[in-house]
Amino acid sequence: MAAKNFTFRIRRFDPERDKEPHFEGYSLDVSEDMTVLESLLRIQTEQDGTLSFRYACRGAVCGSCAMVINGRIDLACRSQVQVLNQETITIEPLPHLSVIKDLVVDMDLFLSKNQTVQPWLQPIGHEPERENLVDPVQWAEAEPYTNCILCASCYGVCPKAGQDPDYLGPAALAKHYRFLADIRDKADETRLALVNNDHGIWGCDMVWNCVEICPKGVPPTQGIGKTRARIRRAQRDQEKGHT
Ligand code: SF4
Ligand code: FES
Repeated sequence: MAAKNFTFRIRRFDPERDKEPHFEGYSLDVSEDMTVLESLLRIQTEQDGTLSFRYACRGAVCGSCAMVINGRIDLACRSQVQVLNQETITIEPLPHLSVIKDLVVDMDLFLSKNQTVQPWLQPIGHEPERENLVDPVQWAEAEPYTNCILCASCYGVCPKAGQDPDYLGPAALAKHYRFLADIRDKADETRLALVNNDHGIWGCDMVWNCVEICPKGVPPTQGIGKTRARIRRAQRDQEKGHT
């Protein structure tokens, strides 16, 4: 496939200069296999050094470059421009997070929610002398949730996150289930109490957008459903204990 010309319509906002966000257009010849991230780097180098965006690994690993590309959230470093198959590529920052500049959003809110679910292993008793081995069958339950790269794509696509700024959101709740499903972790009671409220596990409207958009195959809605089942089971057990 030969190089083709595309127009990049990029949402710009500089809080020191602009009252409102606006779009600016850039024309660029894009070769086969060139990604949206590479295009942004070319635009920044060759046309407008003030254009701001975040990236690090360029290989879909660090989670820094999530943005809205032609109306769909994706990692810019894994989105090939020619495959998008549209003459105009519209690029906007992730929704539901405040914009620091252009395509750079403030991740503090998103990351603080992740901390709320205590994303660290809480075993009981002495640390093992060597590894704490886990049976592969049991690990299979937690494993998909360990692949999160904290890109916030799921948070940006979640309608509930847009409505309720206190909602923990798909990534934090997926992380929560990752530890709940880990048989080495023994803090189930504390963990379930952390999310057993309307801003936690019961806030999800089960839209499944997060599962569809996740570039790493993490299934947050599935984890939320399983956590709900665990809470119901714990409540039933408690009721039985009282009768
Ligand atoms: S769950 Fe998926 S979409 Fe959400 S932050 Fe993690 S990697 Fe990104
Ligand atoms: S630059 Fe790291 S995920 Fe895109």
